Amino acid sequence: MSDDSLPAPAPTRTAAVIPAAGRGVRLGPGAPKALRTLGGTPMLIHAVRALAASRAVSLVVVVAPPDGTAEVKSLLDAHALPERTDFLLVPGGESRQESVRLGLDALPPGYDIVLVHDAARPLVPVDTVDAVIEAVREGAPAVVPALPLADTVKEVEPAATQGEPEPVLATPERARLRAVQTPQGFDRATLIRAHETVTDDVTDDAGMVEQLGVTVVVVPGHEEAFKVTRPLDLVLAEAVLARRRLNDGF
Ligand code: CTP
Ligand code: MG
Repeated sequence: MSDDSLPAPAPTRTAAVIPAAGRGVRLGPGAPKALRTLGGTPMLIHAVRALAASRAVSLVVVVAPPDGTAEVKSLLDAHALPERTDFLLVPGGESRQESVRLGLDALPPGYDIVLVHDAARPLVPVDTVDAVIEAVREGAPAVVPALPLADTVKEVEPAATQGEPEPVLATPERARLRAVQTPQGFDRATLIRAHETVTDDVTDDAGMVEQLGVTVVVVPGHEEAFKVTRPLDLVLAEAVLARRRLNDGF
């Protein structure tokens, strides 16, 4: 028998923070990376659509290049985005870590699960987004999608001059290594605590949570969630879009 006097448990709401404030130095000269186009559409719009495609995501916080906020605002207005999703726009900072923190500062109350997703991973499939959210809903405080490595990895003593031979220090067992992607998903309070406590420069949010001593778990990533970093990655991204267009046509 149901008890009408008890309020229904509040549904867990999920927000996504998309850091998009980087310059994209490794991609070469041009517009900030997130504003470069793939198939005629800015990378950032692809990334926003990829996250908003998940029915669980009800808010997307875009962290824009500080000098490009107005441009990003008009891009978001000009492109079709799901009606059911809310959007917020904030200017980013000097480092990815700072940009993510500025995005978290703008999060309204009521979102218990937070995803952090690189604008530079524009083609992540919605199934990967949903798998990350599901693992957080099932109780993991921090979840990262990741893939096994194709290449063997060596730890080296970095050379002082670029191009000089570098002595190898160790070869970690490849089968135990994973290349991590985004979206990374978190219990909101855990992620906020990590950003308040950890100040070392880290390259992903899960790394900050690890420093708190909290367990991070890995779920399967997807090869289409690769990061657009260097010029060849643009070629791959265009090819993935072309393959999708073909498959959609049949
Ligand atoms: N990012 C950010 N704010 C910064 C630096 C990076 O929001 N100050 C974002 C980028 O826009 C990107 C994500 O963090 O979506 C991952 O960073 P990366 O791939 O390194 O992008 P960039 O820093 O732009 O590229 P590069 O390092 O080649 O300059
Ligand atoms: Mg960078």
